[in-house]
Order: sequence, then structure tokens, then C-alpha cells
Amino acid sequence: MNPIKIAPSILSADFTRLGEHVSEAVAAGADMIHVDVMDGRFVPNITMGPLVVKALRRVTDLPLDVHLMIVEPERYVEAFAEAGADTLTVQVEASPHLHRTLQAIRALDVRAAVALNPHTPPVMIEHVYDLLDQVLVMTVNPGFGGQAFIPATLEKVREVRRQVEARGLPIDIQVDGGIAPDTAGQVVKAGANVLVAGNAIFGAPDVAVALHALRDAAQQALLRSV
Ligand code: DX5
Ligand code: ZN
Repeated sequence: MNPIKIAPSILSADFTRLGEHVSEAVAAGADMIHVDVMDGRFVPNITMGPLVVKALRRVTDLPLDVHLMIVEPERYVEAFAEAGADTLTVQVEASPHLHRTLQAIRALDVRAAVALNPHTPPVMIEHVYDLLDQVLVMTVNPGFGGQAFIPATLEKVREVRRQVEARGLPIDIQVDGGIAPDTAGQVVKAGANVLVAGNAIFGAPDVAVALHALRDAAQQALLRSV
């Protein structure tokens, strides 16, 4: 399995001092920065666009992991790539031509990823594994930070891990939503290696303490499971 990576989600950051707050996560050892793009159509909420990605690109060299919770994501992949995204994740439910969209992302020299909502079965991505660098198993319904982890998604993480192992591909398995020290162990044991956390990191009084607590919980669970 690929090493454990922690991806703080800026959705829960203090937007009045975004650069500074992100820099705290970078200094604390974050592996990437997760950026939640919402359009008020695919999800009820509206957040940010390429301008914010471009601004973040100036404050860190860490990979920018951009999660597109938008309809017609193929219309925007180029703009986000130009803004500095390193990974572009599209929601399978928003991508009727997923294969073409993933090809378009890779053609931009960006890592390609796909996200599955809690109700979406992993079989939906069965024929695109060779175009994927990362699979995101949503562990809440997308749209808002601070929601409760949905335990039924664990079985999907296991299934995606089985599919990835069967193909021998170096695909990261990411989880997003309700990830905190108390849920990190379960998702890691199920096979996830990239943990997105918004509230648990940027909602905490001390970003570094919170990030270390999350990483420790994940690594401890992994050690116990071998
Ligand atoms: C939810 C977003 C998440 C969000 C997670 O729609 O995709 O990335 O920031 O927030 P927490 O970690 O607070 O559940
Ligand atoms: Zn996200």
C-alpha cells in the first residue's frame, strides 16, 4: 500500500487569513492541500474557483488536490490545471463521459482522480482504473464540512482496495468527510491511504497538534493491523 498521506481541506480554514492558515498545515507536515470546489448545482453549497487555487499555488509547493463537486467538470479542468492543480478529482455522478474527462485531465499533465458519493457503487469505475491516479471514496455526502462519518462507506473502501490490488496499480485511495482521529483507524484498516480532513485540522485550535494526532491515529491502526 502507498504511504499514509494527510490532506487538510481548506473548506474549514479561516478565509480571512487563508495563506497563513495553510502555511501552518504545511509546516506541520501536511502531504497535500485539499481544495473543495462547489458550484451550487452538483451540491447545494458554493465555495471557490481557480483564483483560489492560483493564490494557494503562491503560498506552497505541496501538491494541490482539487475536488470538483461541480456539474460538467470537463468544462473547467483546463482552468484548474492552469491555476496550478496537481490532482483533479471529478465526481463520477457528474461525469457521463468519465473516460474522456479522465483522458483530458491526464493530457494536461495533471493527476486524474474520481470521487464516489456514498450511494455510488465502485463498479461504476471498473473500466477506468488504468486512467486513475487516485480514487476518492466519499465518507459523507458532499457539500459541507463538519458532517458525521458514514460507516457504511467502509465496505466500499475495502472493495476499491481489492480492485486496485488485483490490478497491481499504484492508485491512491482517498477518503473525505468526517475523518478525525476516532475514524482514521477504520478507514486506514479498510485500505485508504490518503485522509482528507477539514474540521479535524483547520477547526482545531492548534493545526499542528491536530494534524499529528490524525497521522498518529492512522499509523497506529496500520501497525496494529499487520
Ligand atoms: C465535503 C468536502 C470535504 C470537507 C470535509 O463535501 O468534500 O473535503 O472539507 O470536511 P470534514 O473533514 O470537516 O468532514
Ligand atoms: Zn473534498
